[in-house]
Amino acid sequence: MKISGSTFIVTGGLGGLGSECVRMLLEQGACVGVIDIVEQGEGSARLAKALQSDDERRRIVYAQASISDRSSAERAVADIVAKLGNLRGLVHCAGVALRQEFSNKMADAVDQFRKTLEVNAVGTFCIGAVVADAINAQTEKELGLSAQAPSRFWTTDQERGVIVNFASVVGHEPSARILGYGPSKTCVLGLTKSFADFLAPSGIRVNSVSPGIVATPMNTGKALEFFNKDLLANGVFPKRASEPAHVSSAVRFLIENEFVNAEDVKVTGGWRIVTTTFPGQGDPRDSMPGLE
Ligand SMILES: NC(=O)c1ccc[n+]([C@@H]2O[C@H](COP(=O)([O-])OP(=O)(O)OC[C@H]3O[C@@H](n4cnc5c(N)ncnc54)[C@H](O)[C@@H]3O)[C@@H](O)[C@H]2O)c1
Repeated sequence: MKISGSTFIVTGGLGGLGSECVRMLLEQGACVGVIDIVEQGEGSARLAKALQSDDERRRIVYAQASISDRSSAERAVADIVAKLGNLRGLVHCAGVALRQEFSNKMADAVDQFRKTLEVNAVGTFCIGAVVADAINAQTEKELGLSAQAPSRFWTTDQERGVIVNFASVVGHEPSARILGYGPSKTCVLGLTKSFADFLAPSGIRVNSVSPGIVATPMNTGKALEFFNKDLLANGVFPKRASEPAHVSSAVRFLIENEFVNAEDVKVTGGWRIVTTTFPGQGDPRDSMPGLE
């Protein structure tokens, strides 16, 4: 998909990785609709601060929404389409990693798991579906298909859109310390494949990116300290947290290469979180910032 001149929606566009994807897309000449849960006035103000020129200001729109709420997501997407037009893709970065104290009662983590799934799993399904519907409605109009047949029967062999979801390396091999967050990202990997198959007749590709540890607000303070120690001990190369730009260049590749579909690209420096058990070092939970 050509980036220049196309409109992309970036969810979580006020966060660490989302704002870097917004920057990359603007730099490549795209129009960008940013969706985040942050209230409209504050979100627009935070976005405006990061913009470099009047040209960039003309090519961006902020729309407050929760990605897991169908009506709020539909309102935001309709607003973006009305203001920017030519919707070609979704870069879905919004996600949560909720931390809580460890407890020996596993059931204490149930509520947190439910909240995590609501955003990371249901949210991925909901925003992906709403954006795909908007691209399909646009395709119908562009190809004059709605006049000829009921909308659900048409197919196209032209590329009409592209979706890039944010999974995580821990979705590939969930382990103890990411008890709920890990499986929520496994769900993102699964949805990427099923959406890719489902949306193939619509000419929409769906891929995901799986970062390792990235220095963003999701990983600050004690957490980044902890992860950096882990990366130093167990990483492959480079043995450190990556920068958001390492991930946005993978997103760009997934948008631009029309032959990559139903795939996941890991940006981890080879690191994978496999186990928390280090024999002879006591309870590994003692050294961790919290249960995710
Ligand atoms: N930072 C990492 O190390 C890392 C590693 C692997 C995967 N990821 C994934 O990358 C994505 C981006 O992470 P980040 O580090 O930029 O996090 P971040 O916390 O900096 O940004 C997340 C953004 O999502 C928004 N958001 C949360 N819930 C929302 C909702 N319901 N609706 C709309 N917006 C919502 C937040 O307001 C925030 O702006 C996430 O999906 C995360 O799970 C991050």
